[in-house]
Amino acid sequence: MENNTTIGFIGAGNMSYALISGLINNGYSNKKIKASDANTELLSQRSSEFNLEVFTDNSELAINCDVVVLAVKPQVLSTVCRDIKNFIKHKPLVLSIAAGVKSIDINRWLGGKASIVRAMPNTPALLGKGVTGIYANAKVSEKQKSIGEEILNSVGSCLWVENEVLLDAVTSLSGSGPAYFFLMIESMTKAGAALGLDKKIAQELSIQTALGAGMMASNSENVSIRQLRANVTSPNGTTEAAINSFQDQNFELIVSRAMRAAFERARTIGAELGDDD
Ligand SMILES: NC(=O)c1ccc[n+]([C@@H]2O[C@H](COP(=O)([O-])OP(=O)(O)OC[C@H]3O[C@@H](n4cnc5c(N)ncnc54)[C@H](OP(=O)(O)O)[C@@H]3O)[C@@H](O)[C@H]2O)c1
Repeated sequence: MENNTTIGFIGAGNMSYALISGLINNGYSNKKIKASDANTELLSQRSSEFNLEVFTDNSELAINCDVVVLAVKPQVLSTVCRDIKNFIKHKPLVLSIAAGVKSIDINRWLGGKASIVRAMPNTPALLGKGVTGIYANAKVSEKQKSIGEEILNSVGSCLWVENEVLLDAVTSLSGSGPAYFFLMIESMTKAGAALGLDKKIAQELSIQTALGAGMMASNSENVSIRQLRANVTSPNGTTEAAINSFQDQNFELIVSRAMRAAFERARTIGAELGDDD
């Protein structure tokens, strides 16, 4: 991305903090980043942390930016869009990271002709280790797509989906996914403690195992995940005993049902958030 693209963040909370840090750590000039927020205390904090130009008026920010990142809670997104509707005649890219709110609703609130990229990041983005599903509406140019991609890559990696409904699938997988792994860590910690380990030791063993397994899965380009599992599952060994127990209780079905529930909930929330006229 050229360092002359001006990026404005509406909502200077946690996700904006992660994205602004990511951009600056990747060499992007703080002179080209702006932020607006309803919370003036937070705004002056961001201004002194990053030396950014900040605004209390969202429309003043929008009129000055090539990219407007909508980083407020989904419930206030319609208000924010209406604030800036008359200040985007210069056709900035609108990048929404608000969970669940559909591009068709954002576009309607913005007056109907906006170039919108919608992204679903996840919480590890706060550590620069996020993964984001990203979708562009038909108005978005190739150049704007690559700008959106670069912004999100500054906090991890991102993957395009062709159809917006697939962002609900992304939500059910990577959006909510960190909590599934936390649940696994909690369960393994409790089970380890029940087998006699000190709780702190059980927790550390669980966390480091999750981290190590994740890194092995991520680094093993030529070995399938199934093969990685087979490699540590000796016939008649301890791991096989555990895997058989998981499978007896239909682990795959449990995961699939849980993710279907998250997917359906994402769709319902999206419909509710768009239905506010
Ligand atoms: N955190 C995550 O891991 C994560 C992951 C995926 C997606 N997201 C999405 O990212 C978005 C931002 O999340 P977040 O965790 O960064 O939220 P956050 O920390 O609450 O930040 C949002 C900020 O927007 C401000 N705000 C409220 N109304 C405003 C208005 N009308 N104009 C300008 N600013 C306003 C809030 O101020 P007040 O506090 O005073 O209201 C707050 O400072 C959400 O839509 C969320 O769904 C977050």
